[in-house]
Amino acid sequence: MKKFLTLSLLVCAACTTLRNTSTVRNAATLAPSGKEQPKEMVLNQGSKATGAGRKGVAFNHETHSLMKYSADGKSVIGCAECHHTDAPAGTLKGEFTTDDGRKVKFTTSERNAVLTTALLAAPAAAPVKGCRECHAREGEKPAGWPKMPELPNPDGDPDPIPITNVEAYHDNCNTCHKQAKKLNPASRAPNSCAECHNK
Ligand code: HEC
Ligand code: HEC
Ligand code: HEC
Ligand code: HEC
Repeated sequence: MKKFLTLSLLVCAACTTLRNTSTVRNAATLAPSGKEQPKEMVLNQGSKATGAGRKGVAFNHETHSLMKYSADGKSVIGCAECHHTDAPAGTLKGEFTTDDGRKVKFTTSERNAVLTTALLAAPAAAPVKGCRECHAREGEKPAGWPKMPELPNPDGDPDPIPITNVEAYHDNCNTCHKQAKKLNPASRAPNSCAECHNK
């Protein structure tokens, strides 16, 4: 009996280790920037928020970057659609309409070629910065950018809009997911707080 218990404990320990090292890379283990593409991950770790946004958010980087995950389900999303600073200024995506209807032009470029898997494999290629390196949490200073990114307020308000992690990730994820659901009601793209914040 004792032997059996020890054995099953050992097996269990092995499977937890496997899960942690080979399939799940999450914000706790993911370096702020890196060259290894994550697979399944949990975003929003260590949140101090209260309410609907406090829980972690599952994000499968592998399906989103390798399978046909465009809103219409017809194409693979280019890396720089999400990693928008990883492309030369001249090739940046034109006008982007945010979740709340603002028109935004991407102008910031940190890479002189469009990010691809092949490009990243080159030893000299710079690592990819995680979004939160620039889009810090409210009240925090970004580690990878001089200050919180901001954009002019379209309502004529002289105060610019800070693009915190909430703005940036929500606009990225939600704008596409809303469109995906509209084009295909059977889409599994999550659109409510609890569908995303449940980890
Ligand atoms: C749908 C949006 C999306 C697409 C498409 C996408 N990524 Fe990502 N990527 C992310 C997010 C979100 C993270 C996690 C960043 C974070 O923790 O803030 C990430 C993280 C990464 C990381 C790890 C950075 C680190 O901190 O270690 C690398 C490397 C990366 N992506 C490369 C790529 C490459 C190469 C492609 C194209 C083949 C790609 N990504 C496509 C959204 C995307
Ligand atoms: C498509 C998935 C998705 C949906 C839908 C969503 N969120 Fe989020 N949310 C995220 C991601 C991703 C982050 C940022 C993760 C990070 O910084 O690592 C985030 C961050 C947040 C944060 C900031 C937490 C912190 O401590 O930095 C709050 C607050 C939040 N969400 C609230 C909400 C609320 C309220 C709703 C519903 C009205 C909602 N979210 C809907 C994915 C989602
Ligand atoms: C090197 C810093 C940097 C990194 C890394 C970065 N951003 Fe941004 N982001 C900015 C700046 C600066 C702007 C303002 C527009 C511009 O200058 O191009 C912006 C604007 C945006 C906007 C449009 C503005 C809005 O209000 O919605 C979205 C969406 C966004 N970023 C999402 C992301 C996501 C998702 C990631 C990670 C996959 C990411 N960003 C990584 C600096 C960064
Ligand atoms: C450009 C489009 C696009 C962007 C950007 C995007 N998604 Fe998705 N996502 C999709 C589509 C399309 C599906 C549904 C696929 C299906 O029905 O099989 C999906 C599905 C999902 C699912 C369900 C499980 C899965 O992987 O299929 C989760 C969770 C999810 N997305 C989280 C996120 C988060 C969090 C972000 C932002 C960091 C994000 N997505 C950004 C297009 C996108």
